[in-house]
Amino acid sequence: MITDRIEQLKKDTDTLLLAHFYEESDIQGVADHIGDSLKLAQWGQKSEASTILMAGVVFMAESIKILSPEKTVLVPDLNAGCSLVEHSPFEKYLQWRKDNPTGICITYINSSAAVKSISDVICTSSNSEKIVNSIPKDRPILFGPDKNLGRYLSKKSGREFKLWPGACEVHVLFSAKKLFTLKKEHPEAIVIAHPECMEEVLQYADVIGSTSRLLEEVVNNPAKKFIVATEDGILHNMREMRPDAEIIQAPAEGSCACNQCPYMKLNNLEKIELAIKNKTPEVTLDENLRKKALIPLQRMMDITDGKSVTWPDRFEY
Ligand code: 13P
Ligand code: SF4
Repeated sequence: MITDRIEQLKKDTDTLLLAHFYEESDIQGVADHIGDSLKLAQWGQKSEASTILMAGVVFMAESIKILSPEKTVLVPDLNAGCSLVEHSPFEKYLQWRKDNPTGICITYINSSAAVKSISDVICTSSNSEKIVNSIPKDRPILFGPDKNLGRYLSKKSGREFKLWPGACEVHVLFSAKKLFTLKKEHPEAIVIAHPECMEEVLQYADVIGSTSRLLEEVVNNPAKKFIVATEDGILHNMREMRPDAEIIQAPAEGSCACNQCPYMKLNNLEKIELAIKNKTPEVTLDENLRKKALIPLQRMMDITDGKSVTWPDRFEY
């Protein structure tokens, strides 16, 4: 069976297989760890394996490469991008930074390595509040590329942000109107949502958080019904962990399968087997760029671990 062959290949090649919650259950089944963006970066950095295969999207693999250049970092498919990466081209982001030189720029981990390299600090949806709270009160904040996460954080922290106008093509498709109707039909259900959703959807959410935070809520909240506004890959984890509860996906606009991330779904077991066997596709980065991108990413890791950090006075390029 292909799963047995992958297990054997992992052993033979000293490969750690990481998978995001949005991957299909068969991929999660062969993974050594399944997690959110932050956890995946931390596991990748901590691992002693010489090779990491990231079954997720390419920016997640790049983050591991930035943190651990000595490791071979593989992905099943190099086309597994992210709409937030596409919405933040380097030259335009650079101009934005130049136009706002005194602002501290928080960049969501869903971004290219090049955009990270011109940012002051990175965040994920699970540590974003901690990152915002670490920024001196007298400094303006630029936040990109996800305007929905940025707006949510700005409201939560009571601080004004300058927002980059990017969004996740999957999360923006949840329908506030349909969610309102569904909530009325299931008044006892707990609504949980990822902060990449639009403000109109988030207003109905009882809990807003990263993929791991949403899973934690389903596990720990004794409620028997949950309406979930995030990509549907994580629903099988929720159903597995709470077989006694009803897990309903929040409705999207139209009748498409648009609450599936097309990039995450490019991965499959066949591509994983080939990637480990042939050691390709490999994620590589220019060393100069990697070193620059490491500064904001390491700052994020340090703040997450409760360490103090220093901030540049202004943006220089
Ligand atoms: P998490 O960090 O919450 O796993 O989110 C990653 C992501 O791409 C959500 O769309
Ligand atoms: Fe990017 Fe959205 Fe897919 Fe997450 S769900 S990887 S933000 S396109």
